[in-house]
Amino acid sequence: MKIAIDGPAASGKGTLAKRLAAHYGYHHLDTGILYRAVAQALLGAGAELTNEARAVAAAQALDPARFDDPALKSQATGDAASVVSAIPAVREALTAFQRDFAARPPGAVLDGRDIGTVICPDAEVKIFVVADPAVRARRRTLEARARGEAADETAVLADILRRDERDRSRATAPLQRAADALLLDNTHLDIEGGVRAAIAIVEAARAGRSRV
Ligand code: C5P
Repeated sequence: MKIAIDGPAASGKGTLAKRLAAHYGYHHLDTGILYRAVAQALLGAGAELTNEARAVAAAQALDPARFDDPALKSQATGDAASVVSAIPAVREALTAFQRDFAARPPGAVLDGRDIGTVICPDAEVKIFVVADPAVRARRRTLEARARGEAADETAVLADILRRDERDRSRATAPLQRAADALLLDNTHLDIEGGVRAAIAIVEAARAGRSRV
């Protein structure tokens, strides 16, 4: 079983995906980490984020053992990731890793921007998570402060809007809802409510399949 969870930055899709995977005993991949790791490699080497050859080399040399580096989670790395992720050759270089992960038995939940549209168009369940930008900014600010980072909510909101725009308007694999994805609006749901809603969607998909 493949489950695709897509949506804009700070929509809560990551937590949802992690909790869904734990619920079903499936593997979970936060695909944003791949783009963040590429961006961090370039920043660390002092290379331009638009340097395609360096970015592709970094994508080909990713080390999954380093995906839990807390530095990858920062706002600055997320912003830089949004720049490198617009390079088609970088996306291409990361595709096989994601598809192999998605095929792992007994199932996998991948969250990102283009899982339901490009990486796993064959996913049995697709959920597109949205939430009001102001609510996303509030949540992201609180998360950053909990990590001990200074965060100004107005600046976080501006960053979220800029990132949404860049992710939606890029030519390759833009952020968009797959035609067969179900919409989950997280604006007024807490984490538990979101998880319950997502489980209900998966259960409905499974019941539908077993009737065929
Ligand atoms: O989800 P996260 O904030 O970690 O993603 C960082 C950036 O990586 C996003 O703004 C987006 O530009 C890019 N990304 C992507 N495709 C994915 C996951 C993330 O383009 N599947």
